Amino acid sequence: MSESLFSAAGTDRQTIEQLRQIFKTRKRGEVPLAFVHTYGCQQNVADSEHIQGMLLQMGFAFTQDAEQADLILFNTCAIREHAEDRVFGNVGALKNLKRRCPEVLIALCGCMMEQEHVAERIKKSYPYVSLVFGPHQIPNFPKLLFTCVTQHERVFARGGETGEVPEGLPIRREGRFKAWLSVMYGCDNFCSYCIVPYVRGRERSRNPQAVLSEFRGLVEAGYKDITLLGQNVNSYGKKPDYGVNFAQLLRMLDEVPGDYRIRFMTSHPKDCTRELLDTMAGSTHIAHHLHLPFQSGNDRILKEMNRHYDRAKYLELVSYARRVMPDISLTSDVIVGFPGETYEEFLDTVSLIQEVEFTSLFTFIYSPRRGTRAASMPDPVPAKEKSRWFQELCKAQEAVAARRCAAAVGTVQRVLVEEEIPKKGLLTGRTGGNVVVDFPGDPALCGTFQHVRITNARNWILTGELVPPAGD
Ligand code: 5AD
Ligand code: SF4
Repeated sequence: MSESLFSAAGTDRQTIEQLRQIFKTRKRGEVPLAFVHTYGCQQNVADSEHIQGMLLQMGFAFTQDAEQADLILFNTCAIREHAEDRVFGNVGALKNLKRRCPEVLIALCGCMMEQEHVAERIKKSYPYVSLVFGPHQIPNFPKLLFTCVTQHERVFARGGETGEVPEGLPIRREGRFKAWLSVMYGCDNFCSYCIVPYVRGRERSRNPQAVLSEFRGLVEAGYKDITLLGQNVNSYGKKPDYGVNFAQLLRMLDEVPGDYRIRFMTSHPKDCTRELLDTMAGSTHIAHHLHLPFQSGNDRILKEMNRHYDRAKYLELVSYARRVMPDISLTSDVIVGFPGETYEEFLDTVSLIQEVEFTSLFTFIYSPRRGTRAASMPDPVPAKEKSRWFQELCKAQEAVAARRCAAAVGTVQRVLVEEEIPKKGLLTGRTGGNVVVDFPGDPALCGTFQHVRITNARNWILTGELVPPAGD
C-alpha cells in the first residue's frame, strides 16, 4: 500500500499513452470500458467530465453497466451523511463483482476521500478498492492510475492543495446543449455546518482570460445554456486578484456574440452586490435566474451558521433583484433543524419562503459533519421532530410553487428545447427561470430556443404549445 502525493500540475501525455497501451494489451485489442458515477453537486459533475476526458485519452469508452466495466469510479460527495451512506452502500455492493471479476479496478474520488476517517475506513474495510484520491489530485489521476496498475498496489492520494488552478485538462462533456464551466474552486466562508471548506480547500479563481477562452469555445461548439460554477461565485477574482470581479467577468462573457444563455451558481447573499444584479438586468445573455441560498429565515440561527447576513439584508437583495428584473426566478437552499433551532425559529424560515415565493427550493435536514463547528453544538431536537418540521416546510413550498406555476399559465416563455420524452410524445425544455416546460413539437427543435405559450400547470410541471415565429 502506498500513500502518494503528487503536485497538481497538468496531465501527463506520456503516462496517458502508456496507460492506453496497458489497457489495450489487457483487453487484447478490445476497447476498455469505464463506469463513472457521480454523486453530489454540479462541481462534482464538472470534475467527472474532466476525469472522463482523461479516460477517453487513455482509450476508454463508457458504460452505464458496472458489470461490463474494466474500471469503476465513484466521484463522491461529503455534504450530508445520507450522501456518504449511499456511497458506502454502493461500494459495499461491488464486493461480489470484484470476487467474480478480479481484474476490475475500483476507484473512489471526490470530497468524501478528503476526510481522514473515510479514507481509514476504506483502507480497512474495503480492501478491493484500489485507488482513492481527493479533489486536489484530479490532475494527477493518470499518474495515480499508472502506479496502481503497474505496481499492483493500492494508492491513496489525498491532500496536495497547491493553491494553483488546474488548466488545460481534457474534458468529455455529458450534455449536448448544456455545459458547466468552473470559474473558481474552494470556499473560505466556513459556514459552521459545512464540510466544503475542509475538503475543497481555499478559494482560488481561474484567470478571466482562461474562462473567456473556454466560454468562447463552448459558444462556438453550439452550447446554449452555460452555467458558471463555484462554491461562491460572488467571491470570484479576489484570490488571486485579477482586477476582475464576478460582475465584470459576466459582462466580459456577455459580449461574446451568439444565441445562448448564461447561468451561474452558487451565490452567497453576503457578497451578492447591486452591481451583480444590475449586470444581470442589463445583459443580453444572462438568465433571469438567481440561486441565492438563504439557509434560515431566523437571525439568531444565521449568526450561529456564520452566514454574515440577516433576514432583512436577504429580503432587501430580493426586493432589489425584483425591482430591476421583475421576471426573475429565485431558487434557494435551506436547512431545517440546525443545532439548537427552536420551532419558533424554524417558523421564521417558513415565513421567509412565503414572503419571497421561490420558484423552487432545495431543502435539507441538518446533518452533522465531523470537524465542523456545528457538529459540537448541543442538538436537543429529536430527528423525528425535525422530520415533522421538514414536512411542514415542504408543504409550504409546494403551495408557493403551485401558486407560481398557476400564475405562469397564459404567459409566453423562451424555452431551450432539451430533449424528446418519447413516453409522453412531448418535447421538454427549460425557461430562463429554469422551470421545466413540456410541449408537443418536432424533435429536430432540440438545441434551439423556442417561444412556448403556457397552457396548463399541473403537479408543478408546466405544459404549453409552440408559438409560431412572427410572420408564419
Ligand atoms: N447539513 C445539511 N445541509 C447542508 N448543506 C451544507 N452542509 C449541510 C449540512 N451539514 C446544504 C446547504 C448548502 C447545500 C449545498 O447543502 O443548504 O447550500
Ligand atoms: Fe459551504 Fe457556506 Fe462555503 Fe457554501 S458558502 S460551500 S454552505 S461553507
